[in-house]
Amino acid sequence: MRHYSRVIGTGGYLPTTICTNDDISQRVETSDSWIFERTGIKSRRIAGGDESAASMAEIAATQAMDAAEILADELDLIIVATGTPDRVYPSTACLLQQRLGAKNCVAFDIQAACSGSIFALSIADQYIKSGAAKKVLVVGSEVCSRLVDWTDRETCILFGDGAGAIVLEVAEQAGILSTHIHSDGGCEDLLYCPNPQAATAANKDELGFIKMRGNEVFKVAVNTLGRIVDETLAANEMDKSDIDWLVPHQANIRIIAATAKKLRMSMDQVVVTLENQGNTSSASILLAFNEAVRDGRIQRGQVVLLEAFGAGFTWGSALIRY
Ligand code: ACO
Repeated sequence: MRHYSRVIGTGGYLPTTICTNDDISQRVETSDSWIFERTGIKSRRIAGGDESAASMAEIAATQAMDAAEILADELDLIIVATGTPDRVYPSTACLLQQRLGAKNCVAFDIQAACSGSIFALSIADQYIKSGAAKKVLVVGSEVCSRLVDWTDRETCILFGDGAGAIVLEVAEQAGILSTHIHSDGGCEDLLYCPNPQAATAANKDELGFIKMRGNEVFKVAVNTLGRIVDETLAANEMDKSDIDWLVPHQANIRIIAATAKKLRMSMDQVVVTLENQGNTSSASILLAFNEAVRDGRIQRGQVVLLEAFGAGFTWGSALIRY
């Protein structure tokens, strides 16, 4: 008998502190209208001094497990996608495992920048399909605000903090219809974040802040996401009209609108959280999915396309029959 992965619970957490475009314009030369017109963002959440990727992950994961009606002991695997781990090691997944009291599972992090949640879903799906795991917790958790140079107006306007979670369970019917993940390490210079503690002599003076050539990243993202949509539909012998919902990575409303146009979808079928959350990197898709499940937009049986693009470059999609 074939095994599939089915979504049985979702959760999310956003820190309480709101940082508006007007707040940012007190610090750098920009304006609410510039930021909103170019990105679609009005505000983002900023983690408190006592919050971290692991603490936010715990809240989102607990919510997802409550929705799934499972206990931590039942988990076989925890995967956390994060670019802002609490520690270099142990992994944030191990810290989360301890917080949850999940005694019977293996836990590890993956790092694929903004595509992290799609990569994590893909790995989780392979584990379940192969029979190696029955219940898997996937979390994306990020404190992007700590990787942002708050004097750099080209990046500090974009990012926010938060955590999203999904619980997957083995099922006889899909579930996750397919996942597609890709990477190309050839464009490091367009988007990267140095790690000063592991720097070589050549880059020892770089600070640990996000560096991005936004305009160039924008163009690659639009083209690449167009291709991943085609690849996903072809693999499932589906037509554009078969997709009920698009849940995209929340980087820029213009990138999201271009993908929706390619799918001939109205923006009413696209889940957008960007306006009040900004880009929460690997948390963004899971947060958006959770929001649309909880407010009743995404219904059981509907077909949902998740897609992401991020540093690496990395990109990917997951097609889910919810
Ligand atoms: N306020 C006012 N002016 C600004 C600001 C700002 N915050 N930022 C840049 N500008 C200026 C620039 O200096 C430039 O001025 P100039 O023409 O005098 O040189 C002008 O605005 C235009 O700059 P562009 O960079 O061309 O602006 P663009 O329309 O491309 O918007 C943005 C910039 C929003 C960053 C966009 O390029 C973008 O969203 N890129 C994609 C980001 C993304 O998808 N990243 C991938 C995921 S992130 C991850 O993986 C970690």
